[in-house]
Amino acid sequence: MDKEKIIVIDFGGQYNQLVARRVRECHVYCEIYSYKTDLEKIKEMAPRGIILTGGPNSVYEKNAASCSEELFHLGIPVLGLCYGAQLMMHLLGGSVCKAPVREYGRIEVTVDQSSLLFGDVSEKTICWMSHNDYIEKAAPGFRTIAQTADCPVAAAECVEQNLYAIQFHPEVLHTTEGKKMLHNFVYDVCHCSGDWKMDAFVENTIQEIREKVGSGKVLCALSGGVDSSVAAVLLAKAVGDQLTCVFVDHGLLRKDEGDQVEAVFGPEGPYNLKFIRVNAQERFYSKLAGVEEPERKRKIIGEEFIRVFEEEAKKIGTVDFLVQGTIYPDVVESGLGGESAVIKSHHNVGGLPDYVDFKEIIEPLRNLFKDEVRKAGLELGIPDYLVYRQPFPGPGLGIRIIGEVTAEKVKIVQEADAIYREEIANAGLDRSIGQYFAALTNMRSVGVMGDERTYDYAVALRAVNTIDFMTAEAAEIPWEVLGKVANRIVNEVKHVNRVFYDCTGKPPATIEFE
Ligand code: XMP
Repeated sequence: MDKEKIIVIDFGGQYNQLVARRVRECHVYCEIYSYKTDLEKIKEMAPRGIILTGGPNSVYEKNAASCSEELFHLGIPVLGLCYGAQLMMHLLGGSVCKAPVREYGRIEVTVDQSSLLFGDVSEKTICWMSHNDYIEKAAPGFRTIAQTADCPVAAAECVEQNLYAIQFHPEVLHTTEGKKMLHNFVYDVCHCSGDWKMDAFVENTIQEIREKVGSGKVLCALSGGVDSSVAAVLLAKAVGDQLTCVFVDHGLLRKDEGDQVEAVFGPEGPYNLKFIRVNAQERFYSKLAGVEEPERKRKIIGEEFIRVFEEEAKKIGTVDFLVQGTIYPDVVESGLGGESAVIKSHHNVGGLPDYVDFKEIIEPLRNLFKDEVRKAGLELGIPDYLVYRQPFPGPGLGIRIIGEVTAEKVKIVQEADAIYREEIANAGLDRSIGQYFAALTNMRSVGVMGDERTYDYAVALRAVNTIDFMTAEAAEIPWEVLGKVANRIVNEVKHVNRVFYDCTGKPPATIEFE
């Protein structure tokens, strides 16, 4: 994995992870580091290229995020984006100042197609701009290779030193030919060969796991989610029945989910691992009886999960390795990778390490983005419905039922949610909406069914589109689809007589409905 790598130096821009993802989509491995990273460390990594991200500062401010000027003289190609571009110009003797006209949004840019960066890019192309400052004058030795009506230096290059600066953001999809530009940088400027492919990742990782685990015993807490499933299959392929998977069914999963997990990982499935399903539904329901407050519910579910897992782990005894489905955004967001440490308030059910007797953690997905985890899952032959599973909170349906959780309410929300998901898939929208689910409000109201008066619950449908789950907007679902879902739910699910669609974004709402 060390051999061909691009590194992204993060100046705190909001798109830092996107830059790395786009590079990896070009089949080149890429990692994110803070701008504070020691130059020596960067040199040791011997990257094929360096990309400087955007950031919230102005380069001419005191204490602005910066880097050593030497970075530009290492003989390694550097591409600066937005703030990164301004910083490159500023440090190398150009001039950056407040722009007379602030550019924001999709802007037409005229590019010089003779630049390696813009090979195959249209002369006039739409790019995403978001800047208050601009490059008034490029640094000596640079030539301007793009401009807009308000931005005289929208991109510049110094071919002799392999330095490139662009004011806009090629990493966001609004820049229609952005991916081509990044592709040109990694292939035509950095001369990467493109060896980051999922089949190779899977093969190498299985080999690495085998070497690391030897004849050791491994324990994995399966949640049924994408990450833990892919991690478990990698381990199962590497070490077979040295792996034990414990799957706690807390009775708050979606309809049939427990059985689906068992079908893949259980004795009838294709893998030769030890699978333990703990049917702890009643335990959870009784702990949750009478509890209405959302945070209390979360706590109870989390704690009970740990108790159940602990009991199982005790039966297994000491293990050598505990598998965790940590993925790259978790690493970056916990402040270990890049600059923008997002405080994550959610933790999955099972902050396990304290409760299990193990020697070492094994995290086979630590370097992967979510879409890469999915690709690895497909490569491993995991069924589509597991690979494309939506994000699902650890406390499960417990936080999609307002008020007290009961077995009856769980059944209602499971049935309504199954209908909703089925119709979304029938309408071909299942891969285009970020996250969607049904929740159960605590509201009952009068309705009429046949000749009878009813007094039943209202189901809420939620569907959002989001890039990072920190903000989200309600998805626009065609009325016919919503109408059909509502119709089916009130007809097929007992004790529901109304269906609402939640049109709120996040903020002010959250994605979940608790
Ligand atoms: P909210 O509701 O905070 O959710 O807007 C943002 C994203 O996080 C998921 N979520 C969780 N995921 N454990 C998880 O693993 C949790 O406790 C949890 N709570 C919310 C939610 O589904 C959405 O994708």
